[in-house]
Amino acid sequence: IKKIGVLTSGGDAPGMNAAIRAVVRAAVYHKLQVVGIKQGYHGLITDKIKPMNSKSVSNIIHQGGTILKSARSQEFRTVEGRVKAFENVKKHGIDALVVIGGDGTFTGARLFGQEHNIPIVGVPGTIDNDLYGTDYTIGYDTALNTVVDAVDKIRDTASAHSRLFFIEVMGRDAGFLALRSGIASGAEAVMVPEIDTDFKQLNKFLEQGMRKDKSSSIVLVAEGEKISGGAIQVAERVSKEYPEYDTRVTILGHIQRGGTPSAFDRVTASRLGVSAVEALIDDQKSIMVGLVNKEVVHVPFNQALKNKKKLNPSLLELTEILSI
Ligand code: F6P
Repeated sequence: IKKIGVLTSGGDAPGMNAAIRAVVRAAVYHKLQVVGIKQGYHGLITDKIKPMNSKSVSNIIHQGGTILKSARSQEFRTVEGRVKAFENVKKHGIDALVVIGGDGTFTGARLFGQEHNIPIVGVPGTIDNDLYGTDYTIGYDTALNTVVDAVDKIRDTASAHSRLFFIEVMGRDAGFLALRSGIASGAEAVMVPEIDTDFKQLNKFLEQGMRKDKSSSIVLVAEGEKISGGAIQVAERVSKEYPEYDTRVTILGHIQRGGTPSAFDRVTASRLGVSAVEALIDDQKSIMVGLVNKEVVHVPFNQALKNKKKLNPSLLELTEILSI
């Protein structure tokens, strides 16, 4: 291969810029040409493709968001959209792609690679950490710290007013962000989509909490909590059943996607970005590079997409033990 293209797609995540930088610099280091594709697959279809060099990625390692911009392209979901995208791949003489994003990004990459026989390597970037085959995705650690910081602040006011707060955390249909930030922020309970007994546990906690005369409490609710329907609905239900609690709801929202990437995310992004380019040089295709037990691994897209990553049961148990 002589020329690679790099793009970011789906929900942006802090550390994506560090990954772009690593891809571009690794390509330059290995004497490859590199082009940046703006707005993910949308830019591939609409020909938003520009050459990049070492300097194009100067001073971005510390920035959140993505200098290449991102999009969720509906057109790329269609065969016709992917044909258009491939026309531009040919036009620019691109031999291989590095795509940075989550499962939607890799689903598109797998189809595109199969249909047009182009080598593609994926770099996992999403605050949700919901990709099978990697312990961490880029952006998760930063988002985790953002959530913990926000919960700490809410705890101050919750305590001042002796209130019960329900805080909604992102994660789409996965509870990784909610569970880990719940442990780190000392939440009294965490509700995640992966388990359906949360309400029982919550009720138990509220009764115990009342007995212990706990003055304030924090409950983290994952946005994908299907049974409860989210923090607002949980709060409404609890207010009806336990009118003695003064409840409030905070939805953290997109604040969780922004901000300066943590050192951990920058290092992960740097390692995975370089590994992605080296995998392409080694003739790999249709794989994701990931981190397992601190080492870089290659996971076929098929595997990464087919399997569902599981929450660590010991972490689930921790929240129950620690809220006593
Ligand atoms: O996948 C990242 C994520 O932030 C999810 O946690 C959330 O459900 C979704 O993206 C929000 O997407 P959008 O920014 O398109 O509203």
